[in-house]
Amino acid sequence: MATVRVPAEGRTLADPADVRHKLHGIGIDYERVDVPPEIAAAPAARVLESYEGELAKLRARGGYVTADVIDVTPQTPGLDAMLAKFSREHWHDDDEIRLIVAGSGVFHIHPKNGAIVAIEVEAGDLIRVPAGTLHWFELCDTKTIRAIRLFRDPAGWTPRYTESGAESGYQPICLGPRRPVTAA
Ligand SMILES: [Fe+2]
Repeated sequence: MATVRVPAEGRTLADPADVRHKLHGIGIDYERVDVPPEIAAAPAARVLESYEGELAKLRARGGYVTADVIDVTPQTPGLDAMLAKFSREHWHDDDEIRLIVAGSGVFHIHPKNGAIVAIEVEAGDLIRVPAGTLHWFELCDTKTIRAIRLFRDPAGWTPRYTESGAESGYQPICLGPRRPVTAA
């Protein structure tokens, strides 16, 4: 279950109903899905196959045309450069959908009205950050995440930076349990 924090208000939400209510209020779709350990570590094709029902619903709702599985570990070549692309406030003209199957990370969402919200995601979290939402993303200290992604444009999206510097006052504080990850 995602942990939600509102740093400016010193609030942390962990109760599922509170988390859903808060995320809905800032326009973020959020659901939980079951991720058995054998799926978390399965080859990408099997992961996609396992969630086909879920993905079909998302495609019907959002018009997404491609899905893949991204694997990031501390051994990923060019990891720091890759993470730097997403750790500054940005937006894009496609939704950012992640079904997390392993690892963890933190989305910071900057709503049009209201305080910045940090969402720590972990295995079983399905999140949709709608196109145009100001946000940034960082990994937790294990520097590991495995997630299904969906795109409307097979070429993927390009982050558009706001250059606001909003991210400078926020750390990717991760509160959730640390689980070993054995991605295929
Ligand atoms: Fe993004």
